[in-house]
Amino acid sequence: MPLKLPKIIGHRGACGYAPENTLESVKTAADLGATWVELDVKLTKDDVAIIFHDDELDRTTNGSGLVADTLYEDIKQLEAGSWFSDGFSGIKIPTLEEMLELLIDLDLGLNLEIKPCPGREVQTAEAALDILSRYWDDPDKLLISSFQHVSLEVTKDMAAEWPRGLLLDDEWIPNWKDLAEYLEVATINVNGNLVTREQVEDIIDYGKPILAYTINDPQRFRTLQSWGVDGVFTDVPDIIKDAILTVH
Ligand code: G3P
Ligand code: MG
Repeated sequence: MPLKLPKIIGHRGACGYAPENTLESVKTAADLGATWVELDVKLTKDDVAIIFHDDELDRTTNGSGLVADTLYEDIKQLEAGSWFSDGFSGIKIPTLEEMLELLIDLDLGLNLEIKPCPGREVQTAEAALDILSRYWDDPDKLLISSFQHVSLEVTKDMAAEWPRGLLLDDEWIPNWKDLAEYLEVATINVNGNLVTREQVEDIIDYGKPILAYTINDPQRFRTLQSWGVDGVFTDVPDIIKDAILTVH
């Protein structure tokens, strides 16, 4: 069966309503009607794959310093909820394994973004894919993406059958088609707040589905839909879901 992309992918779970990249954020996304979520994976100092966005611990935990310099036994003690609100105090940074178990329980699709700490592009992809291969058996509900071309190259070599998404950064790179060709990607993922109609049309002409991050404004969502964007990442899946229903 071909990859069936949803119109809405909960960004870092539903990070408008719960602390990003946590089990609670994913449960919230499911409660709000999302059928897929996007989550970031990176490695601790001792190569444990965790669901976490930043290179540093400071913004979203009560810890500080680099993830790449911190052992998992220290990371698992950290508190990752009260920065968001008191109601989430006490929650933890999940491992990739813990997260996959929840996703399978909730029957959610996954866009796993490989978000390596600098210099760990190969190891992060290898570790994440090794774990995924033990848990995940439905390639139609999986998309592996990265801004890091090396991580996508490893993904292609290790798990050619799993769909890959090429993440394009804020600065438009003219050779994106060469990269997409070489990495044999299934989707092109763009900054939906910066992308132009011309760029979207170029991707449509190229023939790959387009996913756009991070769209929380219903009006921008409708505009992107009218241009032919296939789906969006959003912090607020309920709000964007309502915008789909009101498109005529
Ligand atoms: O994968 C879409 C989006 O998550 C990329 O940016 O920084 O939110 O991981 P970021
Ligand atoms: Mg991400």
